[in-house]
Amino acid sequence: MHPDGERILFTEEEIRARVAEMGREISRDYAGRELLVVGILKGAMIFLADLVRSITVPAFFDFIAVSSYGTSTKSSGAVRILKDLDRGIEGRHVLIVEDIVDTGLTLNYLVDNLTARGPASLKVCTLLDKPSRRQKPVEIHYNGFTIPDEFVVGYGLDYNECYRNLPYIMVLSPRVFGGGR
Ligand code: PRP
Ligand code: MN
Ligand code: MG
Repeated sequence: MHPDGERILFTEEEIRARVAEMGREISRDYAGRELLVVGILKGAMIFLADLVRSITVPAFFDFIAVSSYGTSTKSSGAVRILKDLDRGIEGRHVLIVEDIVDTGLTLNYLVDNLTARGPASLKVCTLLDKPSRRQKPVEIHYNGFTIPDEFVVGYGLDYNECYRNLPYIMVLSPRVFGGGR
């Protein structure tokens, strides 16, 4: 394990098995339809790349990047689009793919924003759900793992942009981020 980790939460093998299972479930649910997978940059990128390879219906990709204003104002729910989708989603079956739902601010905003664009359907798929920190409600249709309130990194998830490329998910040692959350 990376020296900044306290313990491994999900190994590469555990993630691979669960992601493949999610892909099979999504493929069943969308049988006969075409899927537009919307990835939330940057955290969702690794999960999305693995997930879509387990999806057997035709899948198109688009990406959106958002930023929430600093930690103190994050609770205000202010989310800003840094890079919008390349194309419209009207009439499409949209699946939002996220790495983690934490306070819910990001997805609560995005679901409303994308719903207003008139998709045929809109569902949310996340690898991790941390329900203990929720501030805004988010309906999750596909969830990989529910996790406790610990700071996790790896497999796309970062701390100060570090650790995204780790193939497993680990709990970050409090000595790295100075305790707190
Ligand atoms: C992280 C994570 C989710 C969001 C979840 O993204 O990837 O997108 O926060 O938090 P929330 O439920 O409290 O809104 P971040 O803003 O760190 O950007 P990143 O994906 O580029 O790391
Ligand atoms: Mn993110
Ligand atoms: Mg981040």
